[in-house]
Amino acid sequence: MKNIVLFASGNGSNAENIVNYFAKREEVAFPLLLCNKRDAYVFERAKRLKVPARHIGRTEFQSDELVRELQQIPADLIVLAGFLWQIPPAMIEAFPHRILNIHPALLPKFGGKGMYGERVHEAVIAAGEKESGITIHAIDADYDRGTVIFQAKCPVTPDDTPEMLAQKVHKLEYAHFPAVIDNYLEHLG
Ligand code: GRF
Repeated sequence: MKNIVLFASGNGSNAENIVNYFAKREEVAFPLLLCNKRDAYVFERAKRLKVPARHIGRTEFQSDELVRELQQIPADLIVLAGFLWQIPPAMIEAFPHRILNIHPALLPKFGGKGMYGERVHEAVIAAGEKESGITIHAIDADYDRGTVIFQAKCPVTPDDTPEMLAQKVHKLEYAHFPAVIDNYLEHLG
């Protein structure tokens, strides 16, 4: 059995897309989804998808107890599907190369603290970039850094608004994130 633990902070469309992708794969399970925002829509999705979900506060998130809980599941992979908090070093040490994140831009550009949601797309457009896209990477101690595992691109046109660019980037996320996770799981052995 491969256990994937999901972390999310908001809408949860990526989390839902990932769970649906693996729906028929008996050897892949989603034993837990953690979210740091009590009113996040991802909880509605988790209920519908029958994925056990709970709110997590900062203290618990930083705790050794949480790391131990994840190890006891055991979590084979932790997937950050739109999660805005930086992963504590103890969790990274406990799960080396086993924490994946998706960023809605072509890292290393347009990453780092504060670069999330519409702000990313606004920055890409303001910089006059001709393309944007997604980056899926393993987490290391620095925010939005770590080994890049996959990138996919989309054009940025002069009439693009941040919302329009966000739509194009979301399409790439839904098309690629689950398959990249699947492939990564294979290589974890
Ligand atoms: C996605 O755009 C993802 O790239 C970023 O956060 C957003 C999450 O969206 N990390 P959702 O909550 O999965 O709908």
